[in-house]
This record gives sequence, structure tokens and C-alpha cells, in this order.
Amino acid sequence: MAREILPATVSSLTTAHGTEQNDSSSQGNVRRRSFLKGLGVVGAALSTGSLLTSEAEAQDRSGIITVGDVAILRFLAAAEILETDLWQQYNELGGIQDSEVPGGSGSKLYTLALEQLDGDMPQYIHDNTEDELTHEVFINAYLVSKGAEPVNLDQFRTLPSSQATGAQQIGRLTNLMQLSVDTTWYTRYRSRTGNPDLGDTFPNAIPSIATGQHPAIPRTDDDVQPDPSKPHHISDLTQAIANTAGFHFATIEQGGTSLYPKLAQRVTSLEVLRIVLSIGGTEISHFQTWSDKAGNSPQLSVVDPVTGLTVTFPDLNSPPLGGEDFQTNLIMPEPTAFLHRKLPACSIIRPTATKGAAMGALQALTADGLFIGQSKDFFKFMRTLAIEADLAVRQ
Ligand SMILES: [Fe+2]
Ligand SMILES: [Fe+2]
Repeated sequence: MAREILPATVSSLTTAHGTEQNDSSSQGNVRRRSFLKGLGVVGAALSTGSLLTSEAEAQDRSGIITVGDVAILRFLAAAEILETDLWQQYNELGGIQDSEVPGGSGSKLYTLALEQLDGDMPQYIHDNTEDELTHEVFINAYLVSKGAEPVNLDQFRTLPSSQATGAQQIGRLTNLMQLSVDTTWYTRYRSRTGNPDLGDTFPNAIPSIATGQHPAIPRTDDDVQPDPSKPHHISDLTQAIANTAGFHFATIEQGGTSLYPKLAQRVTSLEVLRIVLSIGGTEISHFQTWSDKAGNSPQLSVVDPVTGLTVTFPDLNSPPLGGEDFQTNLIMPEPTAFLHRKLPACSIIRPTATKGAAMGALQALTADGLFIGQSKDFFKFMRTLAIEADLAVRQ
């Protein structure tokens, strides 16, 4: 269209880049840049307003931050603060306490029980904790750099710490001692046909921790008493608590694995998209790690003397379980239906539908029991952040 009114000099500049014959989009961009360069040379009074505007807009888009982007980042900042809080509790008792992740002094038998899933569990717990802390700090700092309000949840740090030796005695945002751990991620990521975005549902891998309230960290030293009749003197109760943690790690991180791509679809600024994709990828790497470890949970069945509930970790590789939906070494996502059942199966993150993403994440964390004991004001604050994030629209 504009080419028809180009002076000869500009036209030759354009064709010199060989873009006349093949109009792929990248070559189209080259032509547009060449055209604008040519304008500088000839200074011709052309009707180029639309082109200049689109170039200027393209530059602006990377610098602006919309109300929707702020809302998405604020919800993510809150989610990361909550993640940091829970991972900090795990690290104090079962991770590595050092200058990178300070606080706590470890619970020897709980740590040993976690190591039955993988000898490197304390290192992985430490690294996951540090990652969440950097996510939280980075997103808040980015919000401030754009003149937006950061998120602070300090007023809600009211929940008690574990009374077991090794935990700091400080106020917490999350409760790891009364969890109902949703373990459907385990069968969802092993299914070759089901996708929650297409309405499918999945069975829990460990039904006994999916209902009732279960500790994932020792509540008191009673939960970590040695049992000389067991290997390493780890009691079945201590091992059950560590196994519960092993599954909960993946439950948390699969949530982040879905949350980021869900929200990315409604981000406007390319820079915010870059942040969401880059942090989201780390959540996937966390989930992948924990997905590998959970299946190593030692088999056991034990009655929790505090709750009276029986907790059972079965052999996931044998009937009536086993098969593709439960096989413990299927740690990568099995290919499954994506977007439409007519399309071929694809190995993907699932779910990723964007509608109601933030509220869905908040509801899932709440259903896990993570906020048992939290105040009405806390839920009101978090719901407001979620509603605002879910109102964000890509512009
Ligand atoms: Fe994170
Ligand atoms: Fe995470």
C-alpha cells in the first residue's frame, strides 16, 4: 500500500534487502525498518503515519505496564510470599540451614526420613526455598520499579510454628500440620488421555492423605521419637510425615507450574510476559524434581496418634495400582489430549486454561488446608488480589 507512493531511492533500499518476493513476517519487519531508514535519507513528505505509529507502539509496549499486568504480578507476588513461607518451614526442619536460607537448626530424624526418598532431599528443599524467596523479592522489586504497589503479607504472619526441636518460633502465613494433600497431579500427569482443561478428573495416588488433616512437618518432638526396631531408627509415624511432605512438595509446585502459563495468556507487556515465562519455567523444574521423588516414598501404614487417622503409602507399582497411571518411574509428563481431542496427543503442562486462574489457585491452596487458622482479613485480602488478577485482559 505505502510502497506505491515511495520515491525511487526508498524503493531500491527496500528491494536491496531482497524482501519483495517473499513476505514472511520477519522479512516484512526488515522491509519496514529499511523503509523507515530510507525515509531518513530522503526526508520525503510521505503518508507514513500508520507505519511510524506502529513502530512507536511496538517500542512503547515493552515499557508500559497495564493495570492488568500489575494485578497479575501482585497476585503472583502474594503466591510467592506464601510459597516462601511454607518452604522456609520445610527448610528449617528438613533442609540445609545456611547463609542463603537461614533459620532453624534441623530435625535429625525428620531429615533422615526425607532422605529415604532421595539422599539429596535437604539440598533440593534448600534450593526450592531460596528460589521462592528470589521470586517474591524480584516481583515486588519490579512492581516498585514501575511505580506500582508491592505486596506485603506481614500482618498475616499469625499462625504457630512447629513445636519440634529445630523450628524457629515465629509467626507463619501457612500451616503445614493439618494438610489434606491433593495427590491427583500424580495420576493426571501419567494419564495419556485425560486433561482437566477438557473436563477430565483424576484419582488420588495417596487417598489417605487427601482427606482429613495430616502433618507434613513434625508437630512436636513426639512425632520424631526414634524407633530402634526400624532401619535408621525412623518410626513409621516420622516416615509417614516425611512421605506426606514428599507428595506435598509436588502438589505445591505443580500448582505454580500451571498458574504461570495460565496467567501469561492475559499479560500485555512483553517484559512482564518474559518475567512470567522465566519464573514459570523454574516452577516446572521444581515440579519435575518432586515428581521424581514422591514415588520413592517407603511403603507403610500407620495410625497417627494425634488425629487417630490411618495413613497408608501403598506400593504404587503393584495391583490394584501399577500400570501407566501409577508407575513410579513415569516422572515426565505423558503425552495427552490438548486443546481438542481431534488433535494428536502432546506432552504438556496441564491444566493451562486461563479463566479464573488466580481464584482457582487460591481455592486449591485453601482446600489443601494450608491456611487453617488464618483470619477473615487474610482471605479477604487474598480474594481481592485473585479477583483483580482474574479481571486482567491482554491488550
Ligand atoms: Fe515460585
Ligand atoms: Fe514454586
